Amino acid sequence: MAADKERIAQRYSLIAGYLKKELYILLIERKGIAMKKVSVIGAGRLGSATAYTIAQRGIADEIVLVDINRELARGQALDIAQSVARRSDTKVVAGDYGAVSGSDVVVVTCGMPRGAIEHDRMELLEKNKALIKGIADKLKRCAQGAIIITVTNPSDVMNHLVQKTTGFSEKKVMGFGNLLDSARFRQIISERLKCRPMEIEGAYVIGEHGEAMVPLFSNIKINGKVHSFSVKDKSKITKLLKNAAWDIIDIKGATEFGPASCIVDTVGAVLNGTKEILPVSLVQGGASAGILARVGKGGAEPIEMSLDDGGREFFERAKKKIAGYEVSAS
Ligand SMILES: NC(=O)c1ccc[n+]([C@@H]2O[C@H](COP(=O)([O-])OP(=O)(O)OC[C@H]3O[C@@H](n4cnc5c(N)ncnc54)[C@H](O)[C@@H]3O)[C@@H](O)[C@H]2O)c1
Repeated sequence: MAADKERIAQRYSLIAGYLKKELYILLIERKGIAMKKVSVIGAGRLGSATAYTIAQRGIADEIVLVDINRELARGQALDIAQSVARRSDTKVVAGDYGAVSGSDVVVVTCGMPRGAIEHDRMELLEKNKALIKGIADKLKRCAQGAIIITVTNPSDVMNHLVQKTTGFSEKKVMGFGNLLDSARFRQIISERLKCRPMEIEGAYVIGEHGEAMVPLFSNIKINGKVHSFSVKDKSKITKLLKNAAWDIIDIKGATEFGPASCIVDTVGAVLNGTKEILPVSLVQGGASAGILARVGKGGAEPIEMSLDDGGREFFERAKKKIAGYEVSAS
């Protein structure tokens, strides 16, 4: 009797699976549901970790990897495609800028990372600006309508360069880094205060993704209660936060999983239109700096930030610092 029930259930689940697939194909053919496509420019350590994480989370139907080193992009694409082949139909390919066309999101990760000598990410500016300008010129032609996420460091200045060069709406071109800083902030607080990361709310970092980052202490709740940080705790946590990336680069040469995971949280918010509040770098008033915004299909909508006097002062200082490094798009 039980075996009969199981056989019948199995048959129905097969039929349901078949119908679901047919319905899905029909809807795609009739353009009822859109395929989600993400391109990642740069197939190095961070680009490949980002593409891998997108594939594992199953949030896109197609992932395109582009790198000046075409063989590297091809190898990474094959490896990532095989990592999901038993569980999903996600297409993972290497290509050039023609293949980027039609992307919903483009993540720019190519360029030089920090090495042993660059302590401030701004020191990468001279090394990466011409390269990013060249990529932005290409995206202007092939990625119209896409949301661009600029990750290459210094990500705030690079984001402004991408936005100026493409001429795309400020809301559609986001610099990445503050969300990673915010994840690090949460992890450091949890260690210092001996609580679980998921008990912490409102731990955001805005301003520069760099030395002038602004951790916001005044809105943090732990277990639902506003926490008041001592001056000593604030100073210790801020110091640990500023060194967080450096500690990892010193040990293993680069940061990969932390940034990749937070980049993909941002990509997911766009693709799924979640409108969740995320810290992102947006061009406003002559510089791209990290602010809080609702991120969804149309890009990032800035929200009102409740900053105490110290937070506002540090934020203005960060904006001024970034503006001082602005590069021309011509
Ligand atoms: N914003 C953040 O939070 C964050 C976090 C980590 C790393 N980063 C930055 O991301 C960038 C990449 O870091 P990584 O560790 O992956 O470096 P990597 O050296 O491993 O990879 C860089 C890749 O870019 C490719 N590349 C170079 N020029 C190119 C071009 N013109 N077109 C296409 N591809 C090109 C290289 O071939 C290489 O594969 C660095 O600038 C790093 O500082 C930013």
